[in-house]
Amino acid sequence: MSDLPARDIDWRLRVFDSLSFPTLVLKPDRTIVAANLKLLDTFGLTRQDIIGKSCREFFQTLGGDPDLPCTRNFCPLDKTLAEGQGHSVLRQIKKKDGSTHWEDRVFSPILDQDGRVSYVIESIRDVTRTKVLEKSLHGVRELLTRVLQSSPSAIVAADHEGRILLMNKAAEELFGYELEMGEQVDVSGLYPPGLARNIMKKLRSPEYGGKGKLPLTEVSIITARKEEIPVEMTAAIIYEDGREAATMGIYNDLRERLSVETKLQEARSQLLQAEKLASLGQLAAGVAHEINNPLTGILMYGNLLKEKLQGDPALEKSLNFILEDAERCRDIVKNLLAYSRQSGGSRERFQLNTLVDESFPLIRDQKLFINVRVRKYLSKDSLPVRGDRKKMSQVIINLVMNALDVMDKKGVLTLKTYRDEERQQACLEIADTGSGIPTEYRNRIFDPFFTTKEPGKGTGLGLSTAYGIIKENQGEITVKETGAQGTTFLVTLPLDVTPADALPETIG
Ligand SMILES: Nc1ncnc2c1ncn2[C@@H]1O[C@H](COP(=O)(O)OP(=O)(O)OP(=O)(O)O)[C@@H](O)[C@H]1O
Ligand SMILES: [Mg+2]
Repeated sequence: MSDLPARDIDWRLRVFDSLSFPTLVLKPDRTIVAANLKLLDTFGLTRQDIIGKSCREFFQTLGGDPDLPCTRNFCPLDKTLAEGQGHSVLRQIKKKDGSTHWEDRVFSPILDQDGRVSYVIESIRDVTRTKVLEKSLHGVRELLTRVLQSSPSAIVAADHEGRILLMNKAAEELFGYELEMGEQVDVSGLYPPGLARNIMKKLRSPEYGGKGKLPLTEVSIITARKEEIPVEMTAAIIYEDGREAATMGIYNDLRERLSVETKLQEARSQLLQAEKLASLGQLAAGVAHEINNPLTGILMYGNLLKEKLQGDPALEKSLNFILEDAERCRDIVKNLLAYSRQSGGSRERFQLNTLVDESFPLIRDQKLFINVRVRKYLSKDSLPVRGDRKKMSQVIINLVMNALDVMDKKGVLTLKTYRDEERQQACLEIADTGSGIPTEYRNRIFDPFFTTKEPGKGTGLGLSTAYGIIKENQGEITVKETGAQGTTFLVTLPLDVTPADALPETIG
C-alpha cells in the first residue's frame, strides 16, 4: 500500500478503518500488511503486534481454534490468489470461555494493472446471530413438520395453481396417495367433478365464514382408488402480500360417525316399530276376543241349520256362503291372536332345517312353483330351536307365499339356513327376485291389515302373524335387504342348546 499516492492512502485508510468488521490486508506470501481498527479493537492488539506476521501466525496467537483454516487446506486464500476472484469460508469457532461463534471469512483480491493479485483483503464477519436464528428457525420448522405429521386430521396444501405441495400422514392414509418428491397431483382430483371449483368459489366469497375461509362443511372426497368417502372439512386460502399463494384443507373421515348414526337411527326406528306393533297387537287381541265368541255362535248355529236344511239346495247354497265367510273370519281371528301372541300353543324342540323341508309340501297350491326355481342352502350344522312347530311352519309359508306373489310366479326363491355362533342364533333367509318393497311401505309391512294386494287377494295379515309368532319365540324377523334385485327376509331364533349338544362328537 506504500506505493499509493498519499491522498489515496489517506482516503482508503479511512474507509478501511471504518469497516464494521475486522479486516486484514495480506500480501500474496500471506504477510499481513494492514489491519483495520475494528480488528485491533476486537482482538485487543496494536498494529505493531501483527503487521509483518503471517496470517497463520496471527490466528494461532489468538488461540482457541486448533483447526485453523490454513492447517486444513480449506483456506480459500490459495484459490483467491490462483483465480483472482473472491472466496469465503464459514468457520465454527469454539472460544476459550466455551461459547461457539460462527465466522464467515471473506477473501477479496486486489488486482494490479496486469490482472495479477497484488493483495488480498481478508475480512472476518461474525455470523453467529444469523446462524443461531437459522438454527432456531430450523427447529421451529421441524416442530411444525412434526405437529403437521402427527395430526390425526388429514391436511393437504396446494399452490395457487392447485398442485399439491404437501400431504401429512393422515392425508396420505385417507386419500390413499403416497406422493413422491416432485410428483405433480392436482388438488381437484381429490374431489368429485366440480367440487374443487365450488370450494374455491366459496373460499373467495365473503359469504361463507369470511373471505379466504371455509367453515366446517360435509363433502365427499375421492381416493386414489376412486373410492368416495364422506368427510367434514375446513379450508383456507393462504395470502402473501394480498395475493393467493396457496390453499389448505383439513379433513376428518366421517364414515365411522355416519355408520354409528345410521345404526342409531335404525335402532330408533326399530323401537318405534316395536312400540307401534305392540299397541296394534293389544288392539288386535281385543277385537279378536270380542269377535271370537259371536263367530263361534254363527258357525255352530249355521252348521246346525245346515243339517236341518238338507233337501233345500238353494238355501243350503246360501248357507254355505255364510259358513265359508264365517270360517274366513275365524282364520283372521286366529291370525290376529297369533300376531298379538295371545293364542298359546305348544313348545317343542326341533331342527330348523327339518321345519323348512316339511313346510313346503304344506303349500297347497303347488302350481305356484311351476316357473319358480327353488334353491335351498341348508346349513350342515345342527340348528335346534324351540317353539310351536305348526306356527313356525306358518311363518315360512307366509314368507314363501309373499315371495311367490311378488315374483309373479316366476323367478328364483332362495332359502338359506345358518348358525350365528356369536349370537347363538339359528338363522333363516328367504330371498326372492321380485321388485322389492317400495321405501314408503317399509315401515308398514308388519302392520296388521297392511296390504298392497287387490281386495280379496290379501288380507295383510301374513307378515304381522309371522312377526307375532317369531316374537313369541324370542326371535326376530326383519327385512335384510330390499331393492330392484329382490327382497331378503331374515328370521333369527335362539339356538336351543342343551348340554348334550356341547359334548364333543368323539365322546360316546
Ligand atoms: N317379498 C316381498 N316383496 C315385496 N313386497 C312384499 C314382500 N312381502 C310382503 N310384501 C309387502 O308387504 C305387504 C304385507 O304383506 P303380508 O304378507 O302381511 O300381507 P299380504 O301378503 O298382502 O296379504 P296376506 O299375506 O294376508 O294374504 C304385501 O302386501 C306387500 O306389499
Ligand atoms: Mg302375505
